Amino acid sequence: MIKGNVLVVDDDPNVVEIITESLKNRGYVTESSYNGEDALKKFDWFKPDLVILDVLLPRLDGFKVCDEIRSRDIHRDVPVIMISGNAIPDTMMEGFKSGAQDYIKKPFSVKEVLAKVDSFLSQASGRKNLRAQNELLEGEIQKGQEDYKRINRVLKKKVLDMRALFDLSQDLNRLQDPEEVMHIFFLTIIGQFGSSPVALFSATGSHEDYLTYSGGKGIQDSILSAFRLSRSVGLAKYILRNQEVLFLGSDRLEGDVKREADFMRNLGFSHCCPLVVKSDLTGIVFIGGKINKQKYSKNELELIKSICTSATTGLENARLYAQLQETYLSTIKVLVSTIEAKDSYTRGHTERVGRYANLLAEEIGLDKKSREIVSFGAALHDIGKLGVYENILNKPGELTDHEWEIVRSHPEVGANIIKNMKFLESACDLVRHHHERLDGKGYPDGLKGDEISLGARIVAVADSFDAITSDRPYRKAHSYAEAIEQLRTKTEKFDQDIVQKLVRLIETGRITEST
Ligand SMILES: [Fe+2]
Ligand SMILES: [Fe+2]
Repeated sequence: MIKGNVLVVDDDPNVVEIITESLKNRGYVTESSYNGEDALKKFDWFKPDLVILDVLLPRLDGFKVCDEIRSRDIHRDVPVIMISGNAIPDTMMEGFKSGAQDYIKKPFSVKEVLAKVDSFLSQASGRKNLRAQNELLEGEIQKGQEDYKRINRVLKKKVLDMRALFDLSQDLNRLQDPEEVMHIFFLTIIGQFGSSPVALFSATGSHEDYLTYSGGKGIQDSILSAFRLSRSVGLAKYILRNQEVLFLGSDRLEGDVKREADFMRNLGFSHCCPLVVKSDLTGIVFIGGKINKQKYSKNELELIKSICTSATTGLENARLYAQLQETYLSTIKVLVSTIEAKDSYTRGHTERVGRYANLLAEEIGLDKKSREIVSFGAALHDIGKLGVYENILNKPGELTDHEWEIVRSHPEVGANIIKNMKFLESACDLVRHHHERLDGKGYPDGLKGDEISLGARIVAVADSFDAITSDRPYRKAHSYAEAIEQLRTKTEKFDQDIVQKLVRLIETGRITEST
């Protein structure tokens, strides 16, 4: 059994021979050297596990050889046993200083040499094994730490991605306007990936044959507004079938699919993603490359798909909301036409009041939600007249006190009609209070000044303006100038800021006598 390599260095060939032969018999592999310089060369290529080294050597003495060995064997894995005829303590000390592990005095017994070699090599092998294990462990720990850091980085990124997705879903669920949904959607894509440009093509109805440009960022609308994608062929059909984020430069594309993909690619888009509702393609989002020119990673493409799914839900919700609003409005129109059928003199009144009130709300600068409430309130303001007898509404002469009382009940009756209709409840206040006066002498609640909501004050101005400028059973219509004059003088009734806005609308031609 080979136990290791031993280099024997001595200028006396007899000594070398005795030792090497004994070692070989014991199973060691040996190499011999007779001077210091040669010993170092053999140390380098033979790579001994132990060196037996004479002190007195030609060219380089044993101490210097030992020093050199130590500088090459930094782990002190290779034991050096020095041999010398001179056993004075100083010489021994010098040997230990230069890195020798042991000292044998000449003449020596071969048995002693073999016992020391055995002992040192078994210790050295133990140390070597320990260090190897140590290095292995250190390597594993380092790898573990690197893995941990990498996993941590990936997790952190995932958390951020999930956060962005969560925020987006929250935003999109809150929004009811498709334009706003689209805006947030684009900003998310641009903010998350640094992509530019971004564009959305969508179908306005589920039976539309074509997807048309709905909006974008980082590209001029005019470039894409004439471009449309048929849903039954080409890129749209391909992307609906695959339902994945598609690289527009993919060499799998051919024919019409490739032609359409190339067109978008030439405009700076690199990927597209389908928006699908119940296996119906409702839109396609085109996304440009990253501003930092890096490619999208697999994870990023997955995130783009998730963002598009959220946006699809948001856009669908907004579309359904708009559809619902349409349904509400047509319900209101039916209700209004019922009143106007009863009251021939007020035909067109509701529509005009609605138009004036909407223009006033816009001129005042109300937000979209408030404008919507004003619009509903104006359309419904006289709904309570459904409860007023037709003969009173259409009576050409003066009304009796009792008849006036019935007419004056219409705001309250109207508010009662709509108060249980969830989608109209915000308009309830405008219906109930459109006959209130700033001085508190109006009806039904006698509210004063700011107690009357802005919406109700707007409807009051619009309502009176139309009443004055329309034919009534008991008089002919007044001109706009006369109407404004009346509204201006009745400071106890009307909010003069709103009257002023009405003047402005007339002066700028947004309300004209011919309309
Ligand atoms: Fe009224
Ligand atoms: Fe009215």
